[in-house]
Amino acid sequence: MGSARELKKIPVPFRPRLGENGIRTALAENFMDKFVIRGGNPLVGTIRVSGAKNAALPAMAAAILTEEPVILENIPDVRDIRTERTLLVSMGAEVELGYGRAHHRTTLCCRNLANPEAAYELVKTMRASTLVLGPLVARMGRARVSQPGGCAIGARPIDLHIKGLEQLGATITQDHGYIEASAERLRGGHIIFDKITVTGTEDLMMAATLAEGETVMENCALEPEVSDLAVLLNKMGARIEGAGTSTIRIQGVSKLHGARHRIIPDRIEAGTFVIAGALCGGDLTVSNCDPGHLGALLKKLEECGVQFKTSENSVRVTGGHALAAADVSTEEYPGFPTDMQAQYMALATQASGVSAITENIFENRFMHAQELVRMGANIMVEGSRAVVHGPAQLSGAAVQCSDLRASASLVIAALVAEGETILDRVYHIDRGYERIEEKLRSVGAQIRRMGEILPKKAAAPVGVA
Ligand code: UD1
Repeated sequence: MGSARELKKIPVPFRPRLGENGIRTALAENFMDKFVIRGGNPLVGTIRVSGAKNAALPAMAAAILTEEPVILENIPDVRDIRTERTLLVSMGAEVELGYGRAHHRTTLCCRNLANPEAAYELVKTMRASTLVLGPLVARMGRARVSQPGGCAIGARPIDLHIKGLEQLGATITQDHGYIEASAERLRGGHIIFDKITVTGTEDLMMAATLAEGETVMENCALEPEVSDLAVLLNKMGARIEGAGTSTIRIQGVSKLHGARHRIIPDRIEAGTFVIAGALCGGDLTVSNCDPGHLGALLKKLEECGVQFKTSENSVRVTGGHALAAADVSTEEYPGFPTDMQAQYMALATQASGVSAITENIFENRFMHAQELVRMGANIMVEGSRAVVHGPAQLSGAAVQCSDLRASASLVIAALVAEGETILDRVYHIDRGYERIEEKLRSVGAQIRRMGEILPKKAAAPVGVA
């Protein structure tokens, strides 16, 4: 385990650039960038998948639970990760980035957390900031976290995080848009989630590691990112059993220590490239992924007639085959992921027949549909169902990203469209996809980033997912 002294040797420290309140400027980067995409090129070659953003975010929050350094490898270089670094630094953490070959390594040391607070400016751009709530109360005895409010894809309350923390003995007050939680020491409890929540499961699992006695959590999320977090926490000295099943048992310990951990590959990024490969023709290998995490998606793609082969850590997809429509309903893992629904809709526009796509997790997650229609797709949205008639010849248009996964859907559509698409507000895609334009260009796509045309505004807009 590296000591704090070793930590000092890592050469490139992360310093959020100071804006009017110390965090705004760091978040406003690339805010006005656009992608210009010319469709029709086959994708040939290999794309390497980055580490999972949704596993890296809770792993970084887990560093709060110990005074010792936590070293995380395979951290994706995406905007949400930069936001979380800004958040941790604003609390007093030391965050060091690897550089050169160690570029995707981050070392976090949360020895001195003078300011256990997540400010509105950060929480409003990234809801996953609420993941610090449980770890802060558990380690520091107090936390002040802005309430996230609504977001583009749905209401997304955090009531289950709060209820769970109360069951672990925290006192919670809500005032001036902030949640304040305090506890001398959390105590084990029995939590039954009313609804399956991914970050809720992660937040409370982290909190319970330092509680006194045993915590049993039922109806937990089964996502691989929850299991990955449990692996890290157990390396730090936690005693967690059952992560990846619906019942998780945690024996609280008095202290956690530092650890080194490699983040799992991003299954949503992998799935996005597999769909792009299926639609574009050519021969694309999506490497450094875990096909075991893509089960529901690959099963559905097989039903549509997508031709692919999996190995232990890659999916090779050949495009240009006739595709058939198939219905999809989003569900919690291991069901079809809501984070792949928008990309699947782009595929459905190219499949013969009628695909009914039902969104069961978020109430307003069809904003890409209208943009796809502007590109020539035939899609009718009725409540939580979108009905896609295909195949449609898509044509390039000026379109806008509305949220992270919607943006990925529009990139895929643009790659198969005739002519040029200009994709605005790509800061959404930069939240969760590392250099997507460079990765796609390396396998033959015609895609380039255009810098800002209009002056940057002071703050980044509200984001989602
Ligand atoms: C996580 C993922 C996000 C993904 C989502 C669903 C991260 C950082 N983000 O988001 O990419 O789309 O899972 O797979 O991992 N709910 C409540 N009360 C709560 C918490 C959640 O009602 O306290 C509801 C939500 O509004 C939603 C559903 O439960 O309808 C599932 O949300 P949840 O699993 O919590 O999503 P996130 O963890 O925010």
